[in-house]
Amino acid sequence: MTRILGIESSCDETAAAVVDDRVHVRSSVIASQVEVHRKYGGVVPELAARRHVEAIGPVVSQALEEAGTTMDGIDAVAVTSGPGLIGSLLVGVCAAKAIAWHRGLPLLAVNHIEGHIRSAFIENPDVTFPAIALVVSGGHTSLYLCPAEGRYRQLARTRDDAAGEAFDKVAKLLGLGYPGGPVIERLSRDADAKAYHFPRARMKDQSLDFSFSGLKSAVRRRVQSEGLEHPTACGGTVSSRVRDLVASFQRAVIAALVDRTLAVCRAEGVRTVLVVGGVACNGKLRETFEEVARRERLRVYIPSPQYTTDNAAMIAAAGFLHLERGRLAGLDLNASSSLPLR
Ligand code: KG4
Ligand code: ZN
Repeated sequence: MTRILGIESSCDETAAAVVDDRVHVRSSVIASQVEVHRKYGGVVPELAARRHVEAIGPVVSQALEEAGTTMDGIDAVAVTSGPGLIGSLLVGVCAAKAIAWHRGLPLLAVNHIEGHIRSAFIENPDVTFPAIALVVSGGHTSLYLCPAEGRYRQLARTRDDAAGEAFDKVAKLLGLGYPGGPVIERLSRDADAKAYHFPRARMKDQSLDFSFSGLKSAVRRRVQSEGLEHPTACGGTVSSRVRDLVASFQRAVIAALVDRTLAVCRAEGVRTVLVVGGVACNGKLRETFEEVARRERLRVYIPSPQYTTDNAAMIAAAGFLHLERGRLAGLDLNASSSLPLR
């Protein structure tokens, strides 16, 4: 049995997890900073880094305790080394290096995107290759071809905002709170998603890339022209106009994500799809992908919500691939805010 301690601190979640033999999650602890950043309507990097410093020790201890183990039972330490907020990443990287040095353990540097992709394997270890991975979160919206285990080729990316970022910005515009995704999903329930016609979030050229800034601007224009900036200002409840507006926005985002994923599957002749990252929590997105899977005869795998948003179990799970291939990081490992996935 091999046991990896995973550490994740790339954005605003301090997380640690213990995973055995690739996919058996013994513990997964996540300390969220949502309350710290809520009043700013987005993550404040400096505050995030400081919170990570405070949380990292207790979170690692809790992960070991919940797994019923101690540092003596750990065989390797995996950590997110990028991409992400540099101050946040450095806290996890320094902690992992200190543990690896002190205990004489192998250190594994994991790309955050690879972690998200591996999250799909935790509950479905038998996923077959080739697969297409849609990574859709607050920081990323990309499609990857995974021809074999541990291999990734980017086929499409966002040219501007990430899908989660668009959810967050639209919610901020309407004063609905942070993070925007869950609020917009809730307000969209039973609303009329066809009430507003928004442009598809994609490039006008033939490329498969995403673009969410045109959609965001279209929403902003509607909000301004209809005077919807402060939907909860009088009375506390959100009007049906605003609910229809955010439901229409959500529909446009989902349509773009599903369309592009299908186009890539067809172009590459691939029938296995992984949908990962925070936005994959969205019930409507999950439902739409499930319908498409039935219609198009695709195998679509979407992790349960605890593994779609940032967590360290996915980092430990990805760490196994590096350990098995002998790809160990040195104690000179540095964090990289824009680390590409190779
Ligand atoms: O993966 P994640 O935790 O962090 C990044 O790596 O970015 O994703 C966070 C993002 C936020 O933008 C949040 O608004 C979005 O995921 N999100 C959602 C939902 N839950 C979280 N977006 C749409 N619907 C949701 N239910
Ligand atoms: Zn993430």
